[in-house]
Amino acid sequence: MRVLRGLVVTFSKPTRVLSRAHATLTQRSFAETFGQQNRKCPLCGFFQSGDLLSPVSRRGSAVGVNVRTMAAFGGRDDDFIFRQLLDYKSFTYTYLLADRTTSDAVLIDPVVEMVNRDMQVVKDLGLNLIFAANTHVHADHITGTGEIKKKLPGCKSMIADVSGAKADVKLKHGDTIKFGKFELECRNTPGHTDGCMTFVWHQKSMVFTGDAILIRGCGRTDFQQGNPQNLYDSVHKQILSLPRHFMLFPAHDYTGQTMTTVDEELKYNPRLSKPKSDFVKIMKELTLPYPKQIDKALPANMVCGAYDLPAEATTN
Ligand SMILES: [Fe+2]
Repeated sequence: MRVLRGLVVTFSKPTRVLSRAHATLTQRSFAETFGQQNRKCPLCGFFQSGDLLSPVSRRGSAVGVNVRTMAAFGGRDDDFIFRQLLDYKSFTYTYLLADRTTSDAVLIDPVVEMVNRDMQVVKDLGLNLIFAANTHVHADHITGTGEIKKKLPGCKSMIADVSGAKADVKLKHGDTIKFGKFELECRNTPGHTDGCMTFVWHQKSMVFTGDAILIRGCGRTDFQQGNPQNLYDSVHKQILSLPRHFMLFPAHDYTGQTMTTVDEELKYNPRLSKPKSDFVKIMKELTLPYPKQIDKALPANMVCGAYDLPAEATTN
């Protein structure tokens, strides 16, 4: 097992991030981006129909759940910092994790257009960003790791070795990412892509799943080495085998929800709660459009975003 450890720098007073506006924006932007009539997400194939939303969402109380959740995670009395940051164009969640005492921080799945925002949050919180990690080679957006490294040369990019992509640190199954007194366990979870990796924060019962499992869904398996059998095995062996209270934080959500749990997905995931043969049939019968960003995202993400980007891609 390798342990990746960063430097210790400064500490300053934290700020808060509002999640109510974020959830509202998510709902509005889906309609603007994909059209009122198109209720099937082109990225994951999940229907946005009210029939398939969770009872919590249908009652319109999901925002309240989010606010409570964020308040708990960002609580000033605790020893860690957690921020869930949304890119409202690709519906990607970027996660900022930090040790409140040492200020060491890790960013998971940054998006290039949102790097200025992310860097401002890091600065406001007085954090020392030591790692910027990608859960996989994304097809729907360009990673922000290349731009972050330009702004913070001491920050190291990370991605799974299996992905074949370039990065400062090539992660292997079983590696541990250290930041302050905390650590993330790296678990290979192939199936959406060969190089998908899930990060498990055992100390806080939090899991960052990338696209392996989404809230009541999962990543598509029809391109980028996608394989539904592998995805089913990965999710059940590496994620849904964790304690049932563990909280799952996906790379995307298109319904305004922010997290789920192992218990919920074992019970309610309309694909992954089924037997493997049923899951494979469901995934093979999905008819999904070609991702809009894939032709420019894949080449850029294979070099971890260190790429000759168009100017508009780096402004927000
Ligand atoms: Fe993906």
